[in-house]
Amino acid sequence: MTRDYVSINQGVWDADAPNWVAAGVRLWSATAPEWGNWGLPESSLGLLPEDMTDTDAIELGCGTAYVSGWMARRGARVTAIDVSEEQLTTARKLVTKYDTDITFIAGNAEETGLPDASFDFAISEYGAAIWCPPDKWLQEAWRVLRPGGRLVFLGNHPLSLLCSPIDGAPCDWTLHRPYKDMWGADWSEVEIDPSGICFNLTISAWMDLFDTIGFNVTKFQEIFAPDWAAGTRGSVPAEWAKAYPAEQIWHLEKCG
Ligand SMILES: C[S@@+](CC[C@H](N)C(=O)[O-])C[C@H]1O[C@@H](n2cnc3c(N)ncnc32)[C@H](O)[C@@H]1O
Repeated sequence: MTRDYVSINQGVWDADAPNWVAAGVRLWSATAPEWGNWGLPESSLGLLPEDMTDTDAIELGCGTAYVSGWMARRGARVTAIDVSEEQLTTARKLVTKYDTDITFIAGNAEETGLPDASFDFAISEYGAAIWCPPDKWLQEAWRVLRPGGRLVFLGNHPLSLLCSPIDGAPCDWTLHRPYKDMWGADWSEVEIDPSGICFNLTISAWMDLFDTIGFNVTKFQEIFAPDWAAGTRGSVPAEWAKAYPAEQIWHLEKCG
């Protein structure tokens, strides 16, 4: 990827931020965390430690920062970084509304500028997890975590990218692109619903990368749509996502 994906994605998110305010408000006010396209409950997925008292936590690509809000409610000291000033404007308003303490950084999650080994827990839900090249943001997450620190991230499953047409139409039942050498997709100039530049890998390439950087995999979850799901969310039709995993969640631990 030779294009300036950071600036392109920043522009996309600054422009799209007004469309994410309502979801941010809803998720900040949710009584319990819910995850991904279909809002699956934390009680069934377990992304967050129940008690985060005395935990230094960071969210990488926080958007409206509802995940950070959930961590703060569990007792964590939270830092949240996002490259979009417009998304952070919404996040700051919601922090004030919910009287929460979060340290915000406007910047690229691949280069946080934060000290080495300063966090116990890192998370990304559709933030750096999909908008940054895995080798870059994972190396940075590893650097800022303490030994034994945990990283959890949720994003699109590579199968859903394989079945996504090149023109930007929603995922369907055909393999539209090779799995071999998968790196992600540039949606910035597609015909239908253009957006930014996203990154993904084959499952074995993710595993190799974790190993190279120094993460152990503690859990891997492949997420399907629930039985009640209907319509299309995140460019994935419910019927497709009931049959194939549309989303993936990796739980990692920094070695050493
Ligand atoms: C879908 S939101 C993720 C936040 C929230 N969990 C959600 O699902 O709405 C994606 C966020 O990633 C941010 N982002 C994209 N590239 C980034 C980068 N290089 N560094 C930090 N944040 C980035 C965008 O600005 C956007 O706010």
